[in-house]
Amino acid sequence: MLDHLAEPHGGVRYAPARARRVDLVLIGARGKVGAAFRRLLDRQQPALLAEANLDLRLLAGFDRRGFAFDSHGLAPDGLDATMAPRRDIDLDRLLEFARARGPSPTIAVDCTASDEVADLYPRLFAEGIGVVAANKRANTRSLASYHALQRAACERGVPYRYETTVGSAIPVLGPLRDLRLRGERVQSICGVLSGSLSYILHRMHDGCAFSAAVAEARDLGYTEPDVMEDLRAIDLSRKLLVLAREAGYAMEESDLRVELLGDLQIDADDVMPALQMLDDGWRMRIDAALARGERWVAIAEATQESARIGLHSLPANSAFAQLAPGQNLIEIRTELQARMPLCVSGAGAGVEITAAGVLSDVVSAAMHWPSPR
Ligand SMILES: NC(=O)c1ccc[n+]([C@@H]2O[C@H](COP(=O)([O-])OP(=O)(O)OC[C@H]3O[C@@H](n4cnc5c(N)ncnc54)[C@H](OP(=O)(O)O)[C@@H]3O)[C@@H](O)[C@H]2O)c1
Repeated sequence: MLDHLAEPHGGVRYAPARARRVDLVLIGARGKVGAAFRRLLDRQQPALLAEANLDLRLLAGFDRRGFAFDSHGLAPDGLDATMAPRRDIDLDRLLEFARARGPSPTIAVDCTASDEVADLYPRLFAEGIGVVAANKRANTRSLASYHALQRAACERGVPYRYETTVGSAIPVLGPLRDLRLRGERVQSICGVLSGSLSYILHRMHDGCAFSAAVAEARDLGYTEPDVMEDLRAIDLSRKLLVLAREAGYAMEESDLRVELLGDLQIDADDVMPALQMLDDGWRMRIDAALARGERWVAIAEATQESARIGLHSLPANSAFAQLAPGQNLIEIRTELQARMPLCVSGAGAGVEITAAGVLSDVVSAAMHWPSPR
């Protein structure tokens, strides 16, 4: 199944005997990000073996409906064909296999938005399995639970990475952690963090109706599986919470103040008709801002004391207002970088770019697999 890994790549001959094998368990394997991750893994496996001596194998892949497992490794791009209907015992059997095999680096890659999957992390850590997550749920529960997870991974000596949970593939959580570790206190964080809201607002300033802009963002894969999570800033709140906690702020969800699109009480399966009712109101707000030479921007900001998310009408030539559709920009001010803040920017959403960020986390976790204490 993995014969192609033995082929020379780009003229470089690899040495599979010395390669470090790291097994992956992909959760949400047929979702948008999960499928893009599989395509990328399939493409990159030979290069990773040749250039990093890293033998990444897809040991298992599953979602709510199906499950696939092969102790020698599954072909990532062909996973759909090998998925069998998922049974209750599949996950227990997989963990039993990992336990029986003994110490061998294994990383669970969570490409779901599921609380049920987030609930699994402590069990995975206890089994010596690392976690790379695009799923924000685990880190946005209580502060005590956030610290407990970090501690559990650290004490078991397994990696826990979730860079794509904020700003997709933009490296921001890693740099924040580095700042903290070198003792540089983060004074404030301010940014456009929602790729989906940034895209929607941008398109509305281009003349697109509110509901049509939301539909476009959803069709491009910029929104959460439930688009109302983006519009109610639930997803953005989660990102700000993760960012604030990584900056070292002791923040609970209840500390966040959210003043965004108003009270969106839409509870229908098909939200579009309800969103269309808001089109005219939005058209007036957008036109008024444009007439003032301004644009509406969704800004998320946090300091040690407070965190808030709000819509701001900013001069059209300001850095935040000039961002391209879907672009994120995050400004970090520290004791040493107060006058000239550290800025990171790039695509803040998108299936392929998120999958690329997930693979970066996987590669980094695999290459720096911590030793057990
Ligand atoms: N799209 C982006 O730009 C972007 C950016 C950054 C982060 N993310 C994050 O990436 C994650 C995935 O997003 P997506 O757009 O790929 O979502 P999606 O297309 O809806 O896929 C979700 C996947 O999760 C699976 N799943 C749900 N509950 C599960 C459970 N309890 N056990 C196992 N599998 C389960 C689903 O399987 P079933 O089909 O069987 O239900 C599906 O395969 C989300 O957390 C999102 O916030 C996305």
